[in-house]
Amino acid sequence: NTVLVLNGPNLNLLGKRQPEIYGRATLLDVEDLCRITASEVGLSAECRQSNAEHVLIDAIHEFRVGCAGIVINAGAYTHTSVAILDALNACEVPVIECHISNVHRREEFRHHSYISKAATAVMAGFGIQGYALAIRHLAHLRAGKA
Ligand code: DQA
Repeated sequence: NTVLVLNGPNLNLLGKRQPEIYGRATLLDVEDLCRITASEVGLSAECRQSNAEHVLIDAIHEFRVGCAGIVINAGAYTHTSVAILDALNACEVPVIECHISNVHRREEFRHHSYISKAATAVMAGFGIQGYALAIRHLAHLRAGKA
């Protein structure tokens, strides 16, 4: 009953990086929120962050079967990485793509996502609450309610 919460490049700087776009919450705040939310719905959150594409891919491989799902904010790899898309396409568990900002009202190059092609659902613009909503949705899927 684990969910993998996977954060990609530059998200280690959350809270310090462009706070007008991403807010003041830190990565630790996000991970605490995920662990608390997961425990509220009978799941447990395994939180990972990496700036390296291959580390993200290895984490996806580790969780691709058997867990309750993956919540992934791939950061800028969202817009560039066929390799992460391929890893997510190998997943047998639901995948929820998560973005803190509303990527669709930002620069054109953020409008396309490779991740979306493998995602069950997409969150964008909910701030860090998007992670919590995504975890709640995975619990619904797990319970066969969604
Ligand atoms: C982001 C949006 C991406 O375009 C950007 O590269 C990020 C963060 C978000 O959470 O809004 O690093 O995924």
